[in-house]
Amino acid sequence: DWNSGSVIEEQIARIREQVGSARVISALSGGVDSAVSTALVHRAIGDQLTAVFVDHGLLRKGEREQVENDYVESTGVNLITVEAEETFLGHLAGVTDPETKRKIIGREFIRAFEQVQRDLVDQAKADGEPVKFLVQGTLYPDVVESGGGAGTANIKSHHNVGGLPEDLDFELIEPLRTLFKDEVRQIGRDLGIPEAIVGRQPFPGPGLGIRIIGEVTRERLEILREADAIAREELTAAGLDKEIWQCPVVLLADVRSVGVQGDGRTYGHPVVLRPVSSEDAMTADWTRLPYETLAKISNRITNEVREINRVTLDVTSKPPATIEWE
Ligand code: XMP
Repeated sequence: DWNSGSVIEEQIARIREQVGSARVISALSGGVDSAVSTALVHRAIGDQLTAVFVDHGLLRKGEREQVENDYVESTGVNLITVEAEETFLGHLAGVTDPETKRKIIGREFIRAFEQVQRDLVDQAKADGEPVKFLVQGTLYPDVVESGGGAGTANIKSHHNVGGLPEDLDFELIEPLRTLFKDEVRQIGRDLGIPEAIVGRQPFPGPGLGIRIIGEVTRERLEILREADAIAREELTAAGLDKEIWQCPVVLLADVRSVGVQGDGRTYGHPVVLRPVSSEDAMTADWTRLPYETLAKISNRITNEVREINRVTLDVTSKPPATIEWE
């Protein structure tokens, strides 16, 4: 049976052995998985680790601040933030295919890290230690769904597994590769990471980029970011965080629907609420949210986000639908 303390001890020993005295970079995404894998590696090797947070412009509201302030305070990790919004949005311009989006985002992530690696190598010349390793928060379900498990098909290429470029210049450290989400959360708590981060909804590596159906633009991201923040706020206020696994808000950016507001006809965009209940994201059921909560979210989004004039609810389980729309 499963014991968080012994997994931590085992991983710390394994990481120390794998790394030696080399330097390590960690991919911090703001999500639970990378937060825990980074804290675990930090526990093992301390300041040999540099955590890198890429602000790719696809983040949720307040996410960067939470990482830069709360996470750093609780773990003591060395953090570098890379400003990469321009680069990411530039590469995503005109792209609508979901797999292509994922591959671009995955590739740019790695490029951002390699840039940091070069910078760190320059700084580290004095002590002569190479920067050889990259930490990834890959979980067991990611491995299985990307075809890493025995005899499974590639369902979606998760950016932290399938989307890696061929010329990858790092060795990977993936301390969560055999674990499920609830186990990872427990490890995070035992490592002292605040509940606000450990208890967070899962958020995909490609971020809001795969929750905009259609081309990803700065304007669309701003619209979705506001709607997403409202939905999260109301779900928390209603005390539903424990009940739902996650609730993606999806912007149907290429769809317009007619509405009426004041004396005027509007021609805005619909969003989809996708609340799901799940144990491990491999299967999921749609959460029967209280009508009161749905009404409140719908009213607030349509009142506060000018471009959205319709809120819809996704009532499909997984399978046949996946949790994310792309
Ligand atoms: P799906 O949509 O495949 O999602 O049912 C299952 C879980 O994985 C998350 N997800 C991702 N996580 N990179 C990630 O790190 C990705 O590319 C990715 N795509 C989906 C999703 O939010 C859900 O929790």
